[in-house]
Amino acid sequence: MKTHSLFVGQGRRKRLITKVRDEVRFLKSWAGNPLTTGAVAPSGRKLAQLMAAYVEPERAGRVLELGPGTGVVTRALIRRGIRPEKIVSIEYNGKFATMMRERFPAVSVVEGDAYALRPCSHMGTDRPLASVVSSLPLLSRPPHERRALIEKALDLLEPGAPFIQFSYGFAPPVKRDSGSFELEKTRWIVSNVPPARVWVYRRPTA
Ligand SMILES: C[S@@+](CC[C@H](N)C(=O)[O-])C[C@H]1O[C@@H](n2cnc3c(N)ncnc32)[C@H](O)[C@@H]1O
Repeated sequence: MKTHSLFVGQGRRKRLITKVRDEVRFLKSWAGNPLTTGAVAPSGRKLAQLMAAYVEPERAGRVLELGPGTGVVTRALIRRGIRPEKIVSIEYNGKFATMMRERFPAVSVVEGDAYALRPCSHMGTDRPLASVVSSLPLLSRPPHERRALIEKALDLLEPGAPFIQFSYGFAPPVKRDSGSFELEKTRWIVSNVPPARVWVYRRPTA
């Protein structure tokens, strides 16, 4: 019994050390390039779970993740029941991309710029994507670039399939004024640092 609790204690300690190390790495990355990193700390578990909740595991096609950072949303996707082989993650920061490959060897990690999004072999050529899950700091980009990214991503999805984005802003990262997509917002996750909410964009179904 004592040995068991010792192992449980060691497991928790290891997770805590990893979490603190990730927070330090993130803060360093933010200090070096605040507009690209976009946050002072990785997203909290509740926010990551809320994003993952919008992904339907039964929907055919791969799940594209934009800006995985240290992998908190990736982990939430896997916990949600998405097989790691189905996930493609595009990360700009080389250190985060390397870390993602070490942590999730079955996930396809692409080091690159998500704003230059175009279909690639990792996404599977035979069908549309199942969903796009984005943690990109969209608000640090001008509105036309945000809109272009969302439109490109929606073109890779079937009508009704979600483009999921979190943000810290009161207004949506891209406003629903063009009529080419539907927009849904969630409650605030106030325990997140800073508080955040999730926006879900979809092309209307016929
Ligand atoms: C706010 S952090 C979110 C990280 C992680 N998903 C989370 O929720 O903790 C934004 C992430 O997007 C990445 N990023 C920023 N611009 C990018 C771009 N143009 N292409 C791909 N990744 C980008 C950053 O390096 C960082 O990892």
